[in-house]
Amino acid sequence: MRLDHGGHLTHGSPASITSKVWRFVAYGVTPARDDADAPGEVIDFDQVADLAKRELPALIVAGSTAYARTIDPLPFREIADAVGALFMFDAAHPAGLIAGGAHPSPVGVADVVTFTTHKTLRGPRGGAILCGADLAKKIDSAVFPGLQGGPLEHIIAAKAVAFAEAARPEFRQYAADVVTNAAVLGAAMMAEGFRLVSGGTDNHMILVDLRTFDPDLTGREAQEVLDRAGITLNRNTIPDDPRSPFVTSGLRLGTAAETTAGMGPGEMQIIASLIGRTLRARADEAQIAAVRSEVADLCAAFPPYPDLLK
Ligand SMILES: Cc1ncc(COP(=O)(O)O)c(C=O)c1O
Repeated sequence: MRLDHGGHLTHGSPASITSKVWRFVAYGVTPARDDADAPGEVIDFDQVADLAKRELPALIVAGSTAYARTIDPLPFREIADAVGALFMFDAAHPAGLIAGGAHPSPVGVADVVTFTTHKTLRGPRGGAILCGADLAKKIDSAVFPGLQGGPLEHIIAAKAVAFAEAARPEFRQYAADVVTNAAVLGAAMMAEGFRLVSGGTDNHMILVDLRTFDPDLTGREAQEVLDRAGITLNRNTIPDDPRSPFVTSGLRLGTAAETTAGMGPGEMQIIASLIGRTLRARADEAQIAAVRSEVADLCAAFPPYPDLLK
């Protein structure tokens, strides 16, 4: 998936070693449409199919780092089968939503499923690779001795804890709450005057187009001002962004951590209004300081892992 349409650096960006080892050909999202029922900016499967027929790839990769919609593995599988390609699903972002049953699972559909363990899966920084027995030996030896030196045993132990947590019934509720919180936060951001890329969200993520809120406000400036107000998020390109990846016209927000802290729809409304207030008053240091103190109060009321504080 094109980097500037939500794909990840490791999927063949010229800046990534992956582009030196393989020749990637990127697909993107459909154009934005002025239609609330079909707003566009979703994966363009016609394009995926056309490129696959033309290029006859060895491997088709699904997965993204800035895409707020469900990624259905089935159309990718069909396209891969039609051209005799292997199919890898990089579930880095939705892994926890998949484990918690809130998103469709690519396991058993894709030949290889990769994921990071520290995003919605809520474990330690790291990753994991799933595949069938047919590819296991090749992948194992590509990891070690192909790429890795010594294993990080403490991280392996922490992954086991995360997997056990994700297998509990409570994790299903967590995954559902992450998605509900993102939907509420997204709607509240729209009420503040921001446009959401693709018109909404199905996952833990909201990709905001700042231009409807203020055409002069860049992602970089918004990120920096919000950081001073105690609100952490990152600038992000939006599809076909007229600004550079260092400046950008967008912001990327996520609800995984707030949900862990126990925040719900009411807090999502508060967060959207704090973001709107900060960005409207971005030249006013007193306003930024006032928001910072409200953010501190909100966070103090929702300590993550409160059981550990007892
Ligand atoms: C789609 C996707 N793949 C992979 C990764 C992880 O890449 P790396 O292990 O190089 O940090 C991320 C995010 O960190 C991601 O969003």
